[in-house]
Amino acid sequence: MMFDLTDKTALVCGGAGHLGLPVSMKLAEQGANVVIADCNEEAARQGREKVSSEIPEPQTSWYKMDVADEASIVDTVGEVAGQFGGIDIMVNLAAAATPKTVEEFEPEDFGKTLNVNIAGFFTLARESAGYMEGGGSIILYSSMYGRVAPDPRIYEPPMKPNPIDYGVGKAGIDQMVRYLAVHWAPENIRVNGICPGPFPNVNKPAYKKDPGMQAFIKRLEDKVPMGRVGGREETAGAVVFFASEEASFITGQVLAIDGGWTCW
Ligand SMILES: NC(=O)c1ccc[n+]([C@@H]2O[C@H](COP(=O)([O-])OP(=O)(O)OC[C@H]3O[C@@H](n4cnc5c(N)ncnc54)[C@H](O)[C@@H]3O)[C@@H](O)[C@H]2O)c1
Repeated sequence: MMFDLTDKTALVCGGAGHLGLPVSMKLAEQGANVVIADCNEEAARQGREKVSSEIPEPQTSWYKMDVADEASIVDTVGEVAGQFGGIDIMVNLAAAATPKTVEEFEPEDFGKTLNVNIAGFFTLARESAGYMEGGGSIILYSSMYGRVAPDPRIYEPPMKPNPIDYGVGKAGIDQMVRYLAVHWAPENIRVNGICPGPFPNVNKPAYKKDPGMQAFIKRLEDKVPMGRVGGREETAGAVVFFASEEASFITGQVLAIDGGWTCW
């Protein structure tokens, strides 16, 4: 069977979020044991419940883990590896940003964000790789705003501008993918990235009720060559692909899933 992940263990940081939950579901559907780790304990617990209630076969688990905290990463990864006898797949969907304009932004604001988007991504990747005996697959979530700047015309009030630290961190993740891919290639640990385009959570009550938010979605749609925003399940297939043997010679790639946003 193609894309078979039976007997693999996947640690999914942020695996209960908007894009993360479909990723956790798809990995479990393909047979992987799925461990959801999140700084939001309730989200992690509920996400695990959802996966195990819909896909009871592989094992599932959840952990509270803060990617901004090195000790929390080291402890969690060690416990997951102990519980499942190793780690085969690690997906990181965490993100941070400071909701400020360039004029409001303080240099120190970079520290907090990059502690998650750079230092945290690095530490979680390194700790996970330490338990990937014989090889593994690491998949890091980047963003279209790591490749192109946000078009300010899209972010009219009530939307706040997409802040500078978010995209700077994501551009760093793209380079981290390439660097770590080369570094761990001899150990058969592949490192790839997912670069989502616009995937607003349109089921949020704010999007449904607020005409300003609806206008924002329309401006996003108008900018996408395919004329629509992404559905939350539409990044999960690529994660399964990168995690599987079908991608056994693919490393150091960041795949844009953006309806063509970064093509023009
Ligand atoms: N949704 C989009 O439109 C979009 C677009 C481009 C890129 N992305 C990227 O895709 C990824 C997933 O996005 P999403 O929309 O699902 O976001 P989300 O906010 O729904 O989910 C992110 C999850 O990560 C968790 N998290 C945040 N900080 C953490 C930390 N320090 N430690 C552990 N967990 C932490 C959150 O609690 C949350 O459950 C993010 O990296 C995001 O930057 C999303």
